[in-house]
Amino acid sequence: MNTKKTELNEIKEQIDNRLESFFTYDERDPLRGYADAMRYSLLAGGKRIRAILLLEFCRMCGGDPEKAMDAACGLEMLHAYSLIHDDLPCMDNDDLRRGKPTNHIVYGECVATLAGDALQAEAFRTILRSPLPASARLRCAELLADAVGIEGMCGGQYLDMQGEGHTLTTELLDAINVRKTGALICAACAMGVAAAGGTREQEEAAMAFGRCIGMAFQIRDDMLDVLSTAEELGKPIGSDQAEQKNTYMALLGEEKCAAEVERLTEEAKQVLHAQFAETAVLEQFADSLVSRRS
Ligand code: IPE
Ligand code: IPE
Ligand code: MG
Ligand code: MG
Ligand code: MG
Repeated sequence: MNTKKTELNEIKEQIDNRLESFFTYDERDPLRGYADAMRYSLLAGGKRIRAILLLEFCRMCGGDPEKAMDAACGLEMLHAYSLIHDDLPCMDNDDLRRGKPTNHIVYGECVATLAGDALQAEAFRTILRSPLPASARLRCAELLADAVGIEGMCGGQYLDMQGEGHTLTTELLDAINVRKTGALICAACAMGVAAAGGTREQEEAAMAFGRCIGMAFQIRDDMLDVLSTAEELGKPIGSDQAEQKNTYMALLGEEKCAAEVERLTEEAKQVLHAQFAETAVLEQFADSLVSRRS
């Protein structure tokens, strides 16, 4: 058996177990329906790549992943919020996510919007109340805020919407994806360093790794939207074309996309080697993203 694979599975299981403990309300509580909608998307079975990146960078920098677990959960809350809103009819208008009906299909648009809103605030609360030292909590929250505001994920989502129906250059498409997907993945890596009390130099290296992985991740996401099946991917196929999105598949084609994902992954691994020790788990993780099917 592949031991690194088992290690990754174990980390994912720990993340899923901890996430289960959030937003548990009594069935007589008037907020129970709201909490159910939040838990529906939070626990729907994502790959947990952002949380895994945070915990691994923390471990590589000599920190205690157990103490960083709540920060990793906060990151997954933020990500879940971004997915709920991304799927809304006013955005990508998708009805399938992680193999299940999207949040607004089950709970309606109003509750889905509110579920996303609360998950965003709860993400920061969970990080700020985690058992990490105060300086680490503060830095993690700051890194996350930097990554998801107008200069980060939300800005990228805005540009993504604005670009619908127009053919963009690869430079413009890069600028969108660095923000909409790359920023949160970079933050995940840097937050792991911050959780361990690492140096700014280590944070920079983690972000350089995250930039490569983040870009490769979105290119692969665009490929899967064309090449996969809804069954395997757990998301609708052809959604990008239906929404007239700019994607790497449309702009570069399958072969160039695959080559770019490989190149970026190699670059990511080199950055890792140059700055960190005990990189085997993350290297294997990076490789697994190249050929991922979901
Ligand atoms: C999907 O992210 C959204 C993108 C940024 C492309 P993931 O593919 O990490 O989604 P889950 O969490 O595993 O469902
Ligand atoms: C979304 O990118 C990135 C987010 C900020 C959620 P996509 O719209 O391509 O993600 P999927 O394909 O719906 O998961
Ligand atoms: Mg989108
Ligand atoms: Mg989408
Ligand atoms: Mg996509």
